[in-house]
Order: sequence, then structure tokens, then C-alpha cells
Amino acid sequence: MTQNNREVFGSRFAAIATTVGSAVGLGNIWRFPYEAGQNGGGAFMLCYLAFIFMLGVPLLCAEYSMGRATRSNIFGAYRRLAPRRKWYLAGYIGILSSILILSFYSVVAGWTIEYCVSSMTGSLDFSDTETGHLQFLTLTTGWRPVLWTVLFLLCNTFVMLGGVTKGIERASNILMPLLFVLLIAFCVNSLTLPWRDQGLSFLFSADFSKITPSVLLSALGQAFFSLSLGLGCMLTYASYFSNNTRLGRTAFVTASLDSLVAILAGVIIFPAVFSFGISPESGPMLVFEVLPYIFSQLPAGVLWSTLFFLLLFLASLTSTVSMSEISIAFFTEEKKMSRRKATLVSSAIALTGGLFCALSFGPLSDFTIFGRTFFNFFDYFSSNICLPLGGMICCLFVGWKMDRALLKSELTNGGKHRFALLRLLVFFLRWICPVAIGLIFLNCIGII
Ligand code: PFF
Repeated sequence: MTQNNREVFGSRFAAIATTVGSAVGLGNIWRFPYEAGQNGGGAFMLCYLAFIFMLGVPLLCAEYSMGRATRSNIFGAYRRLAPRRKWYLAGYIGILSSILILSFYSVVAGWTIEYCVSSMTGSLDFSDTETGHLQFLTLTTGWRPVLWTVLFLLCNTFVMLGGVTKGIERASNILMPLLFVLLIAFCVNSLTLPWRDQGLSFLFSADFSKITPSVLLSALGQAFFSLSLGLGCMLTYASYFSNNTRLGRTAFVTASLDSLVAILAGVIIFPAVFSFGISPESGPMLVFEVLPYIFSQLPAGVLWSTLFFLLLFLASLTSTVSMSEISIAFFTEEKKMSRRKATLVSSAIALTGGLFCALSFGPLSDFTIFGRTFFNFFDYFSSNICLPLGGMICCLFVGWKMDRALLKSELTNGGKHRFALLRLLVFFLRWICPVAIGLIFLNCIGII
């Protein structure tokens, strides 16, 4: 379907399914549990949810409005709406962070393919936690992950070459509901585990003394990462929304479903973590060690495990497709490349970054940037610094500079519907979001 000379998503459901497809991925199922595990459980969860609804929803509305109003990539959106070039900084931050995220994300997505294949062939052995741990190390260190990272990036390139709406729309419409069903089934199973109460209380009871500046920054980074915010991903997707899509509603539904998936993942993982005696602070390996162990306790475990890793792989793909779209839209619309060339160029850049990240668990584990391996640095720098910074610029821009009538027209679909919360939204964008992000940054670097 075409509107304003641009391809748009066919239906309202497709707009929600694709933004949820972008938001729901490894960020919810892999990153959320390990960040929560390392940052105090309930305290982290509380801050994360507060950031999703107080900062994430207003920023989603802001990105959606900019994207649909300009029908452009992040760079073009600022160029069309901003009087001054300084705002273009947000465009550069977005493109840089999309490539950094794609690099380390592809490594973890590669692990999901490897776990899926190993489950299918019956070679995963999780008779005890020690074996599970050794198995993770065997599968993810050395040169092997390079193969899976490359394979994942090839799949991503293949989908991207298929065009915007066709590939993405079709995949998201079917997969997201299926993933939900599977997660709910695993939750029910985790609630029967012996250490269920410890796991749930770790996740849901907040010890306020654990809220430190670094916990706040991690929760902020996680909220933005999880909602694909701050780098122009949602802005770019909204540029394909039809004129009938209700932006405020789509923002709220996206944030609610996204946080629901993260909570479900927590409910699956933490009872199991305590029941199987695994440390919640295990870091990026947490989910990959815990999940197969859960499957090994289930009847037809091989089947569940294969299906789950397959769906996780596909959920990662719908997320990487959205982050690739940021740089591809930039190269095609700003640098006038063909879509094919733009896809190949951005895949090649991500592949280079991906190789460094894939090797940082093995041969490059001693190479560090500010004390972090390539993988950890790419993750920390993009999620905790670039995304909040990009998000802050977007809030300031939409709150203070964007034409109010244009913003209103986007949020009301040209006056067709009411958007009662406009003044509140503008207040959040002008004051609450930038001040909160600024304070967390300053707090973290020790200035206040
Ligand atoms: N939101 C995705 C997830 O939670 O897995 C990750 C992501 C997608 C981050 C797209 C950034 C982005 F542009």
C-alpha cells in the first residue's frame, strides 16, 4: 500500500505487530533477566518499569510523530523539521548506535541458532549446572561463534533485500503471537518449581537501598534498548505507518506488550535460577545456561527447546531488521544509494563489528576498551550512553522546537480523533524526560 508516495504498512494491526516485533527480542528475553540479576532484581525492575512508562511512552509518541510527519529516516526527519544543523547530532548518534547494537546483537542471535541446532540434533546435555556452564563456554568461545554470527547476519541481509513491508510484516504477524503463547506456557511451568517463591520475590520485591546511580543508568539503558528508542528506529518505522494509525495508542500498546514480555521472561528465569542453584549475577550467559536446564526437566524437552530457540532467533530477526532499516533508510534517502547497495554496505559494517564482538569471548578476550571487552563495550556504550542521549535530544526537539500544530495533527490524525493528553505529553517531553536523563548521567559520572 502507498501513501504520500511511500510504501506503508497495510493495516493498523501490522503497524503494532511490526513495532512490537522490533521492541520484543533478545532485549526482553536475554538482556532483561541478566541486567535484573546483576542489578538487584526488584529494585531494577521497579526503575525499569517507571522508565518505560514515564520516559519511554512519551518518547515513543515523539519518535512516531517525527517519523510519520516527515516520512523520512532519522537524519532526514531532523533536516526537514530542524532549523539548525546542531540537531543532526541525533541522526549521527542513531546511525552509530544502530550499527554498534547490530554488531553485538548478531552474536547473541548467533548463539540462539547454535542452541536451536544443538537442541534439534540432541547434542545439548544439561544433566547438571556444571555441564550446562561448560557447554555454554564450549559453544560460545573460540572461533565457532563467528560462523553463527555470519550466518545470522546473512539471514538478516536476506530479509532486508526483500523490501520493507513484505518480509517484516509477514514474519511479525505470525511470530509474535506464537512467542507469547510459548512464554506463557513456560511461565506456568516455572511456577511449579521448588524455589518459586525465592525467584519471584527476587524479581518483584524492591529493596530501595539497592537503587544506586549505576542501577538507574542500567535500567534507563534497558528501557530504551527494549523499546528500540533513542536511535531513530521507531521514528523510521513510523515513517511507514499509514495516516490512520493512532500514534498514542500504538505507543502505549507497544510499551505494555514489551514490558509484559520482559516480566514473563523474568518469571520464567528467576524461579529456575534459584531452583537450580545458578547465580542470578551470571551476566550474559544467564539465560543460555538456565533455559536448556528448564527444558531438560520437561517432557519432550528437545522439542520445547528447539521451538523456543527457533522463535527467539526469529524474534531477534524482527528486531535486527528494524535496526538495519535505520542505516539503510539513511543510505538510500540521504546518500542516494540503491536499496541493494545500502543493505550490503550496512551489513558489511555490522559484520566487521560483529566479528570483534564474536571473538571477544575467545581469542580477543584480553582486548579491552575502558576495561570492557568489545562485546561489553559495544553493549554498554550504545545502550547506556548513546540511546539515552539520542532520546534526550529527541524529547528536547519535539518538546521545544517542533511545530505544535504539526505535533497535534500527527497525534490526532489531522484532527480526526481527540488526543486529550497533549499538554501533559509536551510537559514530559520538555521537562521530565530530559531532566531525568540528564540527572542520571550526571549522577553516574559523579557530578551530583
Ligand atoms: N528492542 C530490541 C530488543 O529488545 O531486543 C533491540 C533493539 C531493536 C534495539 C532495534 C534497538 C533497535 F533499534
